[in-house]
Amino acid sequence: MEKHDREASDFDKEYQTLAVEGYLATAFLLGREKIDRILYRELDRHGGGARVLDAGCGTGSQLAEIAGRGFDVVGLEPAIEMRRIAIKANPGVEIGSGSITAMPFPDASFDVVIALEVLRYLPETDNDLAWKEMLRVLRPGGTLIVTLVNRWAIDGYVIHEWIQTRRASRPGGPRRAHCEFTTPGRIRRYLTGLGVTEVKTLGRLVLPLRWAYKIDQRLGQKMARLLNPLDDLISQIPATTPLAGHLVVVVRQ
Ligand SMILES: C[S@@+](CC[C@H](N)C(=O)[O-])C[C@H]1O[C@@H](n2cnc3c(N)ncnc32)[C@H](O)[C@@H]1O
Repeated sequence: MEKHDREASDFDKEYQTLAVEGYLATAFLLGREKIDRILYRELDRHGGGARVLDAGCGTGSQLAEIAGRGFDVVGLEPAIEMRRIAIKANPGVEIGSGSITAMPFPDASFDVVIALEVLRYLPETDNDLAWKEMLRVLRPGGTLIVTLVNRWAIDGYVIHEWIQTRRASRPGGPRRAHCEFTTPGRIRRYLTGLGVTEVKTLGRLVLPLRWAYKIDQRLGQKMARLLNPLDDLISQIPATTPLAGHLVVVVRQ
């Protein structure tokens, strides 16, 4: 929560870059565009007027887009500064305070629940609570769209995190947020255990383009311009799902 409060305005700026420079500008936006394509395809299946919950809505960029497409959207965001920006940017949209692990909504109150880049910050026990809560507030016939972090992403993000966490654990080291890793197989088994019958796991951003952005922003943009169509093609091959930088889980109740 501390991290998200501290980084709220930088996070908001990142989304503003999208309008000016397009989605190839940063590794974050590149990944986000791929996730958005899945998100809006799933939302369109429900049609306008469907009630959508954006759990961990951050600065509310998705809320604005979803509301603009005619959905009845509600946001939930525990970090004060994130929520303040989201409320300012989305007048008239209900944006509450609370955790995805104990949501202030009745059972079966949404057609769609999304949680983008949220569960990765929570440890396993809270992930468990969050999934149960999302399934509880979802109506029969509803859809969950959730992003997770692949343990075996080809760009070795798990190693990057391991190094950063070790650095942070030294006396006086920087404070770091938790990162929860999983695999498509593990999440499928877990959800099957909860009685979910329809689970789709989709991998996005398979090529290690995030490294190119890390080395140099311009290099990343050049490589992405060149290789993004190939990355989109590779991502369609199911065998690449565990290797992708983003793991998107779509559940139908
Ligand atoms: C990387 S941001 C993503 C925001 C937004 N979903 C998006 O994709 O733009 C992660 C968000 O998860 C929120 N978050 C962290 N822990 C949470 C919890 N227990 N319940 C709900 N949201 C949480 C943070 O406050 C932050 O706004």
